[in-house]
Amino acid sequence: MPNSVEIKDFEGVREAWKCPHLSARMGDSGEELGPSYELFLRGTVIQLDGAEHVKRRRTYGQLIRGGGHKEFRDTWLFPVVDSSVRELHANPDEDGFARVEVYRWIRRVQMQLAAALVGFDEAREPEGAEELADLMTILMAGRPTQYEMTVVGHDEESAALKATVGARDEILERFFRPNLERRLELVRRLEAGEISEEDLPKDLTMLIARRADPAWEDPALAEREVLLLLAGSVHTTSSAVMWTLREIFAWLEEHPDEESRLEDDDFILGAAREALRLHPVAPASPRLAVEDVELKSGAEIPDGAIALIRSGFASTEPSIYGEDAMEFNPDREVPPGIYEFGFAFGTGSHMCYGLPIVMGTNGLDGSLGYMLKAMLGAGARPDPEAPMPPVGPTRGDYDDATNHPPPFHVIFDVGSQQAAAAGR
Ligand code: HEM
Repeated sequence: MPNSVEIKDFEGVREAWKCPHLSARMGDSGEELGPSYELFLRGTVIQLDGAEHVKRRRTYGQLIRGGGHKEFRDTWLFPVVDSSVRELHANPDEDGFARVEVYRWIRRVQMQLAAALVGFDEAREPEGAEELADLMTILMAGRPTQYEMTVVGHDEESAALKATVGARDEILERFFRPNLERRLELVRRLEAGEISEEDLPKDLTMLIARRADPAWEDPALAEREVLLLLAGSVHTTSSAVMWTLREIFAWLEEHPDEESRLEDDDFILGAAREALRLHPVAPASPRLAVEDVELKSGAEIPDGAIALIRSGFASTEPSIYGEDAMEFNPDREVPPGIYEFGFAFGTGSHMCYGLPIVMGTNGLDGSLGYMLKAMLGAGARPDPEAPMPPVGPTRGDYDDATNHPPPFHVIFDVGSQQAAAAGR
């Protein structure tokens, strides 16, 4: 494994993410990154630099540019979230309460949204999404992260990795290849003049079928790319919803008179930004030094070494976010030019592609805000029978235990809401 240098301070993190001599392309380190790199990462958008990267990002951009984001919101986000909440309300337990384990429930809803974006038609509905989410959970459990592949090391022979590869094969067989075939047929019909551009779905598999980036002529790369988008979107957003709810409920324990703020969009947005800032979704973003690099903060990353960009520390730096930087403060104001959500989405050219989808463009029209509003509006409250552990110790850093906390159960008081609505 190459040497690694941790970058944790705010300025260092910002500079490292933008430094042209710190490459995203791990596979060129000259080190053997193992079969997992070939199966999951090589050549995907997150592994490209320079012009190649700009081109791939532009191609991806076709899905959300112009009216694309609005189309995604109106066709998928709003209807899928609304119907999921309606379904919960339609099926309360005998005592009038509906109950869910937050992460598991959100994961299914997010999977439906991700499936629409990736082009896995069968998983746009709840049943298919649940099956795909189960397979993705197996895939993610044994798939080494970039950080493990490059720095910590991993066991290519582990049972978990074998299960991961099995889940990957099944996902591709059931959800990708039939959809690619369908879209290749659409391309043939388009070329024959039987249908027009407007008849084509707006999803990644359609872009692949059209070879919107010629690199996708390579079927193995196309497979890696769809899996990357799926893996990058569902767990991250589901974690963010889960952490925001946990933080809000912990905050309400300290501020019992402020419950009415749950109906305030600005409060929900502020809460989401704070939760994102406090709870990074990945341990570190690795970058390979392609020449000797010295950051302004003094950190030195020799040619061939790996810079580990640890956003969680930078996002809780008191000199930037205030003395209470480790606290959850939904009313926090940050200095101009500073992201309110910290480095949750990274920065620089690789900054999260899904950012406009997650955060929206106007108030709570992103997948995170809309989902939170829908759940809180439907009366979500922590289940008193399953109290949640304190959130404070989990802030500012990522480790497996804190990022995958014990299940978090929420109840919806459907009975009271229905009685209130009937009495109106
Ligand atoms: C709360 C939710 C999310 C968080 C916190 C998050 C975080 C991040 C971060 C930190 C990066 C940069 C990684 C690096 O530089 O090494 C990133 C990249 C990326 N994200 Fe997200 N993400 C989220 C949701 C999504 C969603 C919903 C999608 C897809 C719709 C998505 C797609 C991507 C892609 C494709 C990249 C790679 C971009 C590139 O390399 O140019 N993410 N994300």
